[in-house]
Amino acid sequence: MHSSPVFLRLFSTALLALCIGPASAQADTVQQALRRLQDIQSSPELTRQAYAAAEERITFCSFCHGKDGNSKRDDIPNLAAQNPQYLFTAFEKFATGERTDYVMSQLASNLSLEERINIALYFGMQKVTAKTSDRPDLAEKGKQKFMQCQACHGADGTGSMDKPRLAGQRAGYIRHSLRLFRDKDPSRAGSEMIPIAATLSDADIEMLAHYLQGLNP
Ligand code: HEC
Ligand code: HEC
Repeated sequence: MHSSPVFLRLFSTALLALCIGPASAQADTVQQALRRLQDIQSSPELTRQAYAAAEERITFCSFCHGKDGNSKRDDIPNLAAQNPQYLFTAFEKFATGERTDYVMSQLASNLSLEERINIALYFGMQKVTAKTSDRPDLAEKGKQKFMQCQACHGADGTGSMDKPRLAGQRAGYIRHSLRLFRDKDPSRAGSEMIPIAATLSDADIEMLAHYLQGLNP
C-alpha cells in the first residue's frame, strides 16, 4: 500500500468525514468499559455479537493492520492475539493524547466506546502469524536479553491484561517503539517503558526484535 504522507493525510481526511461519535472516556468510564469487556468475554453470545459488530467497523483498520490483525507492513503493529484490555487502553491513550500517532490519534477519538470495546475483542480473537527471524544468532541473543522483560511481559511474551503481548509482534514495530521509549519521544510520554528502555542499546533492540517476531507459543 502507499505510505506517502500525502496519502496518509488524504486517507485521514476521508476517514474523519466518515466517522462520527463521542471522544475519549473519563477514567471511571474506562474502568466501567473494562468491566463491560470482561462481561462480554465471559458470555459466548455477547462475544459473538461484539465480534460481528466489529467486523463491520474494521474495514479501515484492515488497510494497515490486516483483516485478521496481521499487519501489512513491518512497522505497523500486529493486533492479532493482542490482549483486548491492552488494545482498549491503547485506544484510550490515543484518544486522550497521552500517546500520539498521526492516524491513530484521529481514529481513536472518532470511534464510540462500544466500538472500541468490540474492536479490541475482535482483534484479540485473531491468530497471530509469527515470522521466524533470518538471523537465528541474533534471535538467540534476544532470548537471553528478554529474561529481564519477563516479569511484565511473561516468560512466553504473551503479556497480561494490561501488559501487551510481544510474541509474534512485527520486528519493525518493536524496534520503532523501543526507540521511542528509549529516546523519551513525546508520543509515548508517561509510559512505564521509558525507564526500562533507557538501558537498551541499538544492538539490544535489534536482538529483541529478531527474537520476539518469531515467538509463537
Ligand atoms: C494508515 C494506517 C493505519 C490505520 C488505517 C489504522 N492504524 Fe492502528 N496503527 C497504525 C500505526 C502506524 C500504529 C503504531 C503507532 C505508534 O507507533 O504509536 C498503530 C497502532 C495501533 C494500536 C496500538 C497497538 C499497540 O500494540 O500498541 C491499536 C490498538 C490500533 N492501531 C488499532 C487500530 C484500529 C482499531 C484501527 C481502525 C479503526 C486502526 N488501528 C487503523 C496504523 C494504522
Ligand atoms: C515493569 C513492567 C515492564 C517491564 C519490566 C517491561 N515492560 Fe514493556 N511494557 C510494559 C507496559 C505497561 C507497556 C505498555 C506501555 C504503554 O502503553 O505505554 C509495555 C510496552 C512495551 C512495548 C510496546 C508494545 C506495543 O504493542 O506497543 C514493547 C515493544 C515492550 N514493552 C518491550 C519490552 C522489552 C523488550 C522489555 C525488556 C527489556 C520490557 N518491555 C520490559 C511493561 C513492562
